[in-house]
Parts: sequence; C-alpha cells; structure tokens
Amino acid sequence: MAPRKIIIDTDPGQDDAVAILLALASPEDVELLGITAVAGNVPLALTQKNARMVCELAGRSDVPVFAGCDRPLARPLVTAEHVHGKTGLDGPPLPDPTMPLQDAHAVDFLIDTLRREPAGSVTLCPIGPLTNIATAFARAPDIAPRVAEIVLMGGAYFEVGNTTPAAEFNIHVDPQAADAVFRSGVKLTVMPLDVTHKALTTHKRVAAFRNLGTPVGEATAGWMDFFERYDSEKYGHEGAPLHDPCTIAWLIRPELFSGRHVNVEIETHSELTMGMTVADWWGVTDRPKNALFMGDIDADGFFALLTERIARL
Ligand code: RIB
Ligand code: CA
Repeated sequence: MAPRKIIIDTDPGQDDAVAILLALASPEDVELLGITAVAGNVPLALTQKNARMVCELAGRSDVPVFAGCDRPLARPLVTAEHVHGKTGLDGPPLPDPTMPLQDAHAVDFLIDTLRREPAGSVTLCPIGPLTNIATAFARAPDIAPRVAEIVLMGGAYFEVGNTTPAAEFNIHVDPQAADAVFRSGVKLTVMPLDVTHKALTTHKRVAAFRNLGTPVGEATAGWMDFFERYDSEKYGHEGAPLHDPCTIAWLIRPELFSGRHVNVEIETHSELTMGMTVADWWGVTDRPKNALFMGDIDADGFFALLTERIARL
C-alpha cells in the first residue's frame, strides 16, 4: 500500500520532536508533505525554529517547514515553558537550524495542499493547539471535505485535565479552534491523555534510545530525560507520558491502540471547564459520534516501534 500523505501541525515540544522523527523514519508508511508550526508549548518563533532543528537532526532539511498562527483564535496564548523549558526543546544541545523557513504562511500551505492533492488523500496530524487547522477551515470551507482524516493529540476524559482540572493543554490553549475542528465533520481520531498517559518513558525505555549509539538516539533520550523531570514530579511515578508520537504510531500500527466511536464536544463557555473534551462514552445522548476516542495502548509495542524506527535515522 502507498504511504499515507500527511501534514504534521505542531508546537515542538520534545514529544512533538519524537513524533516528527517517527514520521521521517517511516517512509514506507507516511509521506510527510510538510510541517506547519503553531504557537503552543512555546511562542511561534521558537516552535518553527524547533521544527527545523528536528528535521536537520534527522538529515531532512528538504522537508518544508511553515510558520502559522502566533496566537489562539480568541484567547491569549498560554505556553508551557515549565514543562518543555525556555526553548521548548530543552535537553540535548542542538545547533541552530540552517534550513530556511518557508515564506508561505502555514494556513496557506494547508489550503493549497488540500486543494492540490486528490480529495481524501491527505491526513492532518495536529499535535499542538488547533489554531492553524481551524483558521484554514474558516478561510477555505471547501477543504474540510477533502481531508482524509485528522489524527490529533488532545483532550482528556477519564484521565481529566493536565492544564486545568478539566482541560488538556492543546485544547485548553485554543478551545474555539478545537470546537471548530470537532464540528467540522472530518473523520477524527483522537489521542487523549486517557491513552497517552499509558505511554510512559520509563528508564528502561529511555535507555533503549540511548543504547542506539546514534546522535538521534541520544537526542531522543535527552529529550525524554528532560521532559520526565516535570511529569514524574507531578504524577508521582517513573516516566513521562509520550503524547504526540501516538498519532504517528496509529498511522503505522493502528492495532497498538483501542478506543470507541463517541460524540466529543468542546466546552467553550464556562471558564471553570473551558477546553474540556466532553466525551459521551456511554452514548447517553443522540449527538453524532464524531470521533474515535482512544483509551488504550500496547505501550511495549509502541516503544518497540519507536526504537526500531528511530534506529534508522
Ligand atoms: O497535553 C500534551 C500536549 O500538549 C502535547 O502535544 C504536548 O506537546 C503539548 O503540546
Ligand atoms: Ca505538542
């Protein structure tokens, strides 16, 4: 089967970086058409720079990287330097990028690509706030029906929020954008904290990357070491949830995951629950089942896939 054409929309972020590496290491499964950066973990100036640094670490300065929206649709930007460090990619020292940032705006790249490629042939993989995606859909309503699928990292239900008691970071940063995407009618596969919190970077799993003995393996282990210091303190157990690579792993080995088709709607009114992904898990309403909401993962299989693929870079 031909590799799936994808665009990764991202706010690197150490876990975003590992997701990008997994995609670049899997050409038989995914063809990465481009990377669109969005403000999230850190401001846009850093997320677009970090995306280029990751591409160059993988020896892929040919991948076009675009800068997108620098703030949410309607709310002030909330960032997460306390999790990801001042640069957003703290941990292993990496050289500044030399590859150019594309001139075009990320939203224009999303619109132009979806109009150019055959309908139903491009999958969007947003792993940060959904501002770019929602802006593209608002500016060009014709493109939403042309999207094959959106496979996103975001939300939480049984696992509750990591940014407020009710909301996960990506959705919390831009609830209006998330609402637009969840109402868009596009086929949605959602990797919420319910599943990503089961993908923990234990010391044994991190050592497997370091033992690859490659610059990419070392960088990956270094990111995980840095990323873990905050989450292990917060959650009181070894390891940190490796959120974003779950989206790419789904495209490569969907059998690693299980979930349920349910209705998911976004809270956009109450400040108390702003950005909550309200999943009708037990089907108590007749609201449309708009999302495949993941709940479980074969974590050993996930990390085996990650290690095997990243060893290729
Ligand atoms: O809540 C986790 C999500 O927020 C991940 O995508 C992480 O990179 C941050 O963007
Ligand atoms: Ca992210």
